[in-house]
Amino acid sequence: TGYITLDFGYKNTGSTKSAITYLDGENGVLRYRGYPIEQLAEKASFLEVAYLLIYGELPTKAQLDNFQSSITKHTLVHEDMKQFFEAYPAKAHPMGVLASMVCSLSTFYPESLNPNRSEAEFDLTIHRLLAKLPTLAAWSYKNAMRHPFMYPKNNMEYCENFLYMMFAMPTEEYHIDPVVISALNKLLILHADHEQNCSASTVRIVGSSQANLYASISAGISALWGPLHGGANQAVIEMLEKIHNDGGDVDKWVAKAKDKEDPFRLMGFGHRVYKNFDPRATIIKKACDDVLEKLGIVDPMLDIAKKLEKVALEDDYFKSRNLYPNVDFYSGIIYRALGIPTEMFTVMFALGRLPGWIAQWKEMISNGEPIGRPRQVYVGATERDYVDIEKR
Ligand code: CMC
Repeated sequence: TGYITLDFGYKNTGSTKSAITYLDGENGVLRYRGYPIEQLAEKASFLEVAYLLIYGELPTKAQLDNFQSSITKHTLVHEDMKQFFEAYPAKAHPMGVLASMVCSLSTFYPESLNPNRSEAEFDLTIHRLLAKLPTLAAWSYKNAMRHPFMYPKNNMEYCENFLYMMFAMPTEEYHIDPVVISALNKLLILHADHEQNCSASTVRIVGSSQANLYASISAGISALWGPLHGGANQAVIEMLEKIHNDGGDVDKWVAKAKDKEDPFRLMGFGHRVYKNFDPRATIIKKACDDVLEKLGIVDPMLDIAKKLEKVALEDDYFKSRNLYPNVDFYSGIIYRALGIPTEMFTVMFALGRLPGWIAQWKEMISNGEPIGRPRQVYVGATERDYVDIEKR
């Protein structure tokens, strides 16, 4: 069987050739299809970026109009799916609900199970996913609140529609501050892809068995949920609240993070690939100041985060290990300012990452990649004979 090289966590193992996202961890560079993240976050709409990631080029006006109107047509989810929501306990984590709901979509659209689908059928699956994820995400929140579900309003743009389904009530007029819509658009773009991270690799490997796109994305949502990946955004705010309630002594918590006997890590710090700074964190930190100022919000968590960052960045432990704030460090503070509850933070990440997962899956298929199947080095018992149960 030849020689096997072990690489726990695939720290140095490339799994594919990809033309989607370029990431230079030493210099803090991130580009989608060649376009710098800074420009896209400033100028583009989220659906424009989704199109870019999935189809490889920025859309023309006509292409974007078609893409948007097709997505808009599919924002409703099947009425029967409402009953699924009702069966979850009120305290169900929305990531658990979302992963299950997305996998369930495959049962409503069984044509997605056919690996020999036409390109048009595949596009329809992509549009359905992009259209329905915001509805499912918002409804998972409404369900947890035991509030009535709000149906999508198709005259609204993608981000606005999501916020409407999250926060509107049938009993009152709803107005959304454009600052909130624009902040959400930026956040979703910053999360839209990040090459072969844990969830994208999961989506590719699940899809490599020819499992359908819904099932593969559902697996990606599950991978994202973990606190070392997308779940870090929830963990950061919980950590900041703990520090705040503990008197705000950041030095004490930095010392805890350095203590190898203590399992505590500084959440939102460190990255497998970025060893200098995370360009997404730089943009988000600035956006955080802007959004809080424009909305007139004072959040003590922001002060704690800034103090924590300052102490850690001057500390030899963090310096010598190249540990810097990552995308999750400040994103939660903006989500809070937008009124999004902590348990929904990782769902927000999933909404943003969806086009990246789709693009990765599509590329894996079009590359004709073989089924993902890593090898191992066996270290268990050598051959032994079965012992009858009464003799054990
Ligand atoms: N706090 C304290 N020490 C840390 C931290 C941290 N946040 N991150 C890494 N270290 C230490 C780690 O203990 C190790 O020390 P030593 O060399 O003495 O054993 C060294 O730094 C290298 O860390 P590693 O765990 O080997 O690095 P990795 O590439 O396997 O892990 C990571 C990367 C992101 C999982 C890790 O930095 C981490 O756990 N960070 C906190 C969770 C987090 O913020 N995750 C979000 C990542 S970015 C967005 C996303 O992926 O979704």
